[in-house]
Amino acid sequence: MSTEPVISVRDVYKSYGHGQVKTPVLRGVSFDVQKGEIVAIVGQSGSGKSTLLNIIGSLDTCDKGKVKVLGRDFDSAREKQLAAMRNQDIGFVFQAFNLLDHLSCIENVVLPSVFTHAKASEAHEAGMAALTRVGLKDVAKRSPTELSGGQKQRVAIARALYSRPKLLLCDEPTGNLDTDTGREVIEFFAELNRDDEVTLIIVTHEERLSSFAKRIIHIQDGVIHSDESGAKA
Ligand SMILES: Nc1ncnc2c1ncn2[C@@H]1O[C@H](COP(=O)(O)OP(=O)(O)OP(=O)(O)O)[C@@H](O)[C@H]1O
Ligand SMILES: [Mg+2]
Repeated sequence: MSTEPVISVRDVYKSYGHGQVKTPVLRGVSFDVQKGEIVAIVGQSGSGKSTLLNIIGSLDTCDKGKVKVLGRDFDSAREKQLAAMRNQDIGFVFQAFNLLDHLSCIENVVLPSVFTHAKASEAHEAGMAALTRVGLKDVAKRSPTELSGGQKQRVAIARALYSRPKLLLCDEPTGNLDTDTGREVIEFFAELNRDDEVTLIIVTHEERLSSFAKRIIHIQDGVIHSDESGAKA
């Protein structure tokens, strides 16, 4: 029995705008990602990388084509099922961290528990485990506003890990970090992939991050220009 890919994207089209003035962003994109892969998505600014990532995460919809992620066919899945998948099976990491400043770090990390109605004590325990994993249990009660960029990103990663996702979608995760902190984040991704078999999709401009990936998909003018595996040792 062959295993089903974690992500299947088939002939996906996406335009923005209305009526006559539609700007095509994705023009027939197809690829599969298998469990445990680390895939970098690269391409010029405006080439559609974030749009593609958002479609895979079901944060946005495509105009045409088929998307299937973690066994859910987006055509037939109900919004409730997709919301559950976003909340429990997919972790999102954004360049801008997207932390809520009026909450403490631990409150930010356990935010997904609001939707699952988890017991507060269990949520706290799982949240502290996630913060410990990124080396930040000591800042649990502090506001994100008191943290450095790298610490904020690690809190955001802890939040993404809170539900023990099978798939991590990262959009420029090291974009706001200095070299050393960026390296720490990459090492942490490697560990997650190795130990927990988390599938990683990373949109990046950074050479270092794309060379860490085992496969690089290059998007250009809304289509896949190249899709290469095992490019480096
Ligand atoms: N919500 C939106 N409404 C209208 N146009 C949009 C919207 N989101 C993105 N676009 C346009 O779609 C194109 C692709 O945007 P996208 O954000 O996917 O690019 P990107 O490859 O992630 O770029 P960057 O590297 O700068 O983040 C751009 O031309 C952008 O202006
Ligand atoms: Mg982008």
